[in-house]
Amino acid sequence: MVPSQAPSTPLQLSGGGSLRGTVGVPGDKSISHRALLFGAIAEGETRIQGLLPAEDPLSTAACLRAMGVEVSPIQAGGEVTVQGVGLDGFQEPAEVLDCGNSGTTMRLMLGLLAGRTDRHFVLSGDASLRGRPMRRVGAPLAQMGAVIHGRKQGNFAPLAVLGQPLRGTTIRTPVASAQVKSAILLAGLTASGPTTVIEPAQSRDHSERMLRAFGARLDVGGPGLTEVTLTPGSSLRGQTVVVPGDISSAAFWLVAAAITPGAELTVRNVGLNPSRTGILAVLEQMGAQITVLNPREVAGEPVGDLQVSHGPLQAFEIGGELIPRLVDEIPVLAVAACCAEGVSRIRDAGELRVKETDRLAVMARQLGAMGARIEEWEDGLTITGVTALRGAAVDSETDHRVAMSLAVASLVAEGTTSLDRPEAAAVSYPGFWDDLQRLRV
Ligand code: S3P
Repeated sequence: MVPSQAPSTPLQLSGGGSLRGTVGVPGDKSISHRALLFGAIAEGETRIQGLLPAEDPLSTAACLRAMGVEVSPIQAGGEVTVQGVGLDGFQEPAEVLDCGNSGTTMRLMLGLLAGRTDRHFVLSGDASLRGRPMRRVGAPLAQMGAVIHGRKQGNFAPLAVLGQPLRGTTIRTPVASAQVKSAILLAGLTASGPTTVIEPAQSRDHSERMLRAFGARLDVGGPGLTEVTLTPGSSLRGQTVVVPGDISSAAFWLVAAAITPGAELTVRNVGLNPSRTGILAVLEQMGAQITVLNPREVAGEPVGDLQVSHGPLQAFEIGGELIPRLVDEIPVLAVAACCAEGVSRIRDAGELRVKETDRLAVMARQLGAMGARIEEWEDGLTITGVTALRGAAVDSETDHRVAMSLAVASLVAEGTTSLDRPEAAAVSYPGFWDDLQRLRV
């Protein structure tokens, strides 16, 4: 959870200087959640290497423990073991399940709990999470027979799940969302027949890859791999999962090096799943100097090292099916746009309004305070570069990706940036401030 209740001291970030060296980013957040959750519903032990030791996965682990799942302590660098309780083994928790700041925890868990008959679960989280829409998961689950109650016609947490027998069905989702897709597929594991999810564009496919590795039967097809069918009946078996570094965390270093004069960085062990690599496509379109070294496959996910150096950048235009492939990188891309020659346009990104904060409004407000020429639209941003940013008093507004994006902006700003609520970074990247200090020259 973002410790926003305790007032923190703003962080002073001086502009200028450069970046040099090698950094290994922490484990992928999406894969970490899934490894814990799928390990919990499997038979036998799951061993997880490289699990992200940050607040969001800790929320998932705490919820699982509250339902009787043994999860070993989560420490940086250590292996984590999960003793699976099987598809229907969760105990009814005595207390509210606290999902903290984590949308993935709440949404995937709704899918996992909806079919646990004769059990009652209540899920809640911090102020940000309690303001995020949950009907996008509740409505399709209701089509399968789920009973979920929440504030404002079931749209907001706290949510109560009254476990029911579920039936398989075909569901067309209005937005491309891996959280929604995954929740439906997880509910489908114990439904009475096959469950098909059809998305408007492909969202990240970590659930499909990992469920298959655990032994589930999944068929993926349709135009652009937008249709996934899960056929229930197989039990899941505990696995060894190796979590690659998170490309969404690497994105801060990729943009930082691309915009900072003289910079040269290598980011090691980055997950390069094609449903996540939109950031590389855009940086390439901008003319950034990025090389993929040592491409390899680790536990069913493509991985590589990324070498990036500073150079002149051109404006970019993004929208449509590319957006789900870089949805979490848009805040830092907005920073890159300030340093690129010309007018950059981000469209079809209305989903950013329902992330940990309204990221379109927050980035327009905070980068605007640093002198960015940034215009906010209903579904995107228009940013004119190159703009000389200036140090200012800015605020993460409790959003981890905003905190780190503003830190990247501060590197090229004239003078000192004072960043309020920097501790939000710990939601996905606890060592970010130490890495930043170490890489600066
Ligand atoms: C995630 C999916 C994305 C992403 C989030 C993690 C996941 O959300 O923004 O940070 O792990 O499935 P949506 O599925 O809502 O787009």
